[in-house]
Amino acid sequence: PSLGTQLPFRSRRRRSWAPCPRPPPHLASPLPPAALILLFYLVFYGFLTALFTLTMWVMLQTVDPFIPKYQDRLSVPGMMIRPKTEALDITYNTDRRSAAEPGLSLRSPLAAYNNSRQVATNERCLPGRYNEQPDNGVLNYPKRACQFNRTELRDCSGLNDTNYGYREGRPCILVKMNRVGCELLWVGYAQKLGEIEMFPPNGNIDLMYFPYYGKKVHLNYTQPVVAVKFLNLTFNFDHHVECKINAANIATTDERDRFAGRVAFKIRVNKD
Ligand SMILES: *[C@@H]1O[C@H](CO)[C@@H](O)[C@H](O)[C@H]1NC(C)=O
Ligand SMILES: *[C@@H]1O[C@H](CO)[C@@H](O)[C@H](O)[C@H]1NC(C)=O
Ligand SMILES: *[C@@H]1O[C@H](CO)[C@@H](O)[C@H](O)[C@H]1NC(C)=O
Ligand SMILES: *[C@@H]1O[C@H](CO)[C@@H](O)[C@H](O)[C@H]1NC(C)=O
Ligand SMILES: *[C@@H]1O[C@H](CO)[C@@H](O)[C@H](O)[C@H]1NC(C)=O
Repeated sequence: PSLGTQLPFRSRRRRSWAPCPRPPPHLASPLPPAALILLFYLVFYGFLTALFTLTMWVMLQTVDPFIPKYQDRLSVPGMMIRPKTEALDITYNTDRRSAAEPGLSLRSPLAAYNNSRQVATNERCLPGRYNEQPDNGVLNYPKRACQFNRTELRDCSGLNDTNYGYREGRPCILVKMNRVGCELLWVGYAQKLGEIEMFPPNGNIDLMYFPYYGKKVHLNYTQPVVAVKFLNLTFNFDHHVECKINAANIATTDERDRFAGRVAFKIRVNKD
């Protein structure tokens, strides 16, 4: 049987200019022409759908599930401070019970940094270099994270001083960094703010804590944290402090986002 008899539009066209002789019974289609047209379009669109699906599937195979799909070119670190307060305003009174509150709120965020926890979940890394774990052909999953021991925060670790200095008016603030970063820089009103001590020393975060591959693959990663202790700030005074990441790879002067890579907060210690 020729293909022509199978194609519905061809036979319809033929019928329009010459009455088509009825095909011999053994070649006759068991379906009426309308059903043939329907069948044709079903097959046709079915094929298109299959092709489209196949193309999509092939394309999706090339997409890495562990790389965020919507990446902003402006990939700057988000920063957080603890204790978490409304409007980033840390105001308390040393002489009252309120001095205990900020310290209490630091306890749970620091639990993940307990040395024992870090040793159990993370590994000791070589300091001074990036902890890169590329996927060389095979998926390198999960990625290992480096130990960040709570004791590195020393006076702000809350281990010896469970009050984190709040009681004696020498409070500790923790600054967590979400993505990349190396070093913190303080811009403040120096004289009244008094001396500041940072843990790890000078607020230097080792390169081994970077890059961060995201929580899907970097399972046990604990964000590096810098603790800042205000050793001698002036009481009963609003101190406006800004903490800026000082790292070569982050532009903190980005005009589109003034708050990229920096966090500004107020701290006030009242003492009657
Ligand atoms: C962390 O360590 C401190 C003291 O070593 C302990 O009191 C606390 O319960 C520990 N927290 C966790 C979550 O292990
Ligand atoms: C973390 O502390 C444990 C003991 O508490 C120690 O064995 C480990 O080497 C420390 N890790 C780092 C990176 O200092
Ligand atoms: C994460 O921590 C668990 C223990 O809580 C450990 O069994 C696992 O090996 C760790 N994963 C990585 C990638 O280090
Ligand atoms: C706690 O105090 C002891 C003794 O003063 C000291 O050896 C230790 O290093 C301190 N720990 C921290 C985390 O500062
Ligand atoms: C603390 O700061 C005051 C000025 O605000 C200064 O007079 C005093 O010497 C400082 N104390 C220390 C121990 O640095």
